Amino acid sequence: MPTDADQHIRATDAALPRRDFIHIMGASVAVVGSGGALWPLIDSFNPSADVRATSSVEVDLEPFELGQRITVKWRGKPVFISRRTAREIELARADDHAKLRDPQTDAERVIDPEWLVVIGICTHLGCVPLGQAPQSDRGGWNGWFCPCHGSHYDTSGRIRRGPAPLNLEIPPYEFLDPMRLKIG
Ligand code: FES
Repeated sequence: MPTDADQHIRATDAALPRRDFIHIMGASVAVVGSGGALWPLIDSFNPSADVRATSSVEVDLEPFELGQRITVKWRGKPVFISRRTAREIELARADDHAKLRDPQTDAERVIDPEWLVVIGICTHLGCVPLGQAPQSDRGGWNGWFCPCHGSHYDTSGRIRRGPAPLNLEIPPYEFLDPMRLKIG
């Protein structure tokens, strides 16, 4: 015959998972709410069939002009492709030996200096930084700016100011010919 105490323990145990679930939901909503453009990282843990199938992406670079930036989706992530002007390349190289949080020269981050290819996910908490549109805020180094906590990236995608610990990641890619890029 269960006592009142036994029944209370069982009732408390049964309530725990539900309370935990409510806390997790609350935390998730809070993160999404503060991030705004937070990339759905959870999706990358459970890629759908179409994402798994897209293990590589080919991009025809012919239509893009100097100074233009485009975004393509690769394995569920945004990849920023920047056709850099001579000035943007010059700015990146000029800072190769500046005090960098994640030291890398520009040459270590590109195959062809005219084309910078980076994963467009801030290395702080996973927001998609601004800077792809010409009129958007590109931060203090004319690269990309993540407004959630103010991370600035330069024209090589290197972190220059703000809380992000690392440079924008470079995905695996190769040129199939001078104007055809394969990511992945
Ligand atoms: Fe917070 Fe980029 S995700 S500064």
